Amino acid sequence: ALKHLLHHDLVETQIFAHRGSKSNRPENTLAAFTEAVRVGADGIELDVHLTKDNQIVVIHDESIDRTTNGIGFIRDMTFEEIRQYSAGSWFDTQYKFEKVPLLSEVLDLLKEMNFTGVLNIEIKTDNYQYIGLEQKTSDLLTSQDLPFSHIYCSFNLQSLTCLYELEPESELCYLMSTSDKKIQKGLTLEYITSLHPSIKWIKKNTNQIKKIKKPIRVWTVNNDLDMYLAFNHQLSGIITDYPELALQLKEQY
Ligand code: G3P
Ligand code: CA
Repeated sequence: ALKHLLHHDLVETQIFAHRGSKSNRPENTLAAFTEAVRVGADGIELDVHLTKDNQIVVIHDESIDRTTNGIGFIRDMTFEEIRQYSAGSWFDTQYKFEKVPLLSEVLDLLKEMNFTGVLNIEIKTDNYQYIGLEQKTSDLLTSQDLPFSHIYCSFNLQSLTCLYELEPESELCYLMSTSDKKIQKGLTLEYITSLHPSIKWIKKNTNQIKKIKKPIRVWTVNNDLDMYLAFNHQLSGIITDYPELALQLKEQY
């Protein structure tokens, strides 16, 4: 009975695949999300931006320079322009046919693959405030029946406030790097449901973890020691470029 009780009280750390499976696939591509589902990730993290013609695309940076063979800011390019470029050849020629996906294409893929975990959508408005990105993203997610759940995260409080108005029931996660001011805000604002701090923050503030009553998912946790740290502190989730390794370690833990 005691064992049962203890087991019940344990919080299981969920493994979120960062930008898909960033370590072994070109980030934020259908190939990366396919890999994340294949290894059995509990959650999948991705980043969204808005093109000049108001399409929601899945890509990390605000320009296509680093992760495609083209150049330019997403906000200055139409989807058709962005689509000419490869989003995989920079990583490995075998992925040369990967393109910058629309968020809707990722949702379709996850549906087809019968993903039943958590999709973590990061609204990338830390540098540039796209008009209507939150509304369009929320509309897309709520207008269909999906076999998986979704949560939103952002470094930008304005984006989370906006999403709270659009989807008051949704989980809203505040991203924090090292700032302690942010954690105070994240703790006091009731509509912020969860905190997503960096591993650096967690290491500096391990004594605070127990006191925080909101779910904590930490990023980017890429080595075994950091993974064990998250398991030991029973954090709600880790966001990792190595989902397969994290799942293996969790299994053996
Ligand atoms: O979700 C956590 C992490 O993705 C935030 O940082 O720069 O990888 O988007 P970044
Ligand atoms: Ca991100």
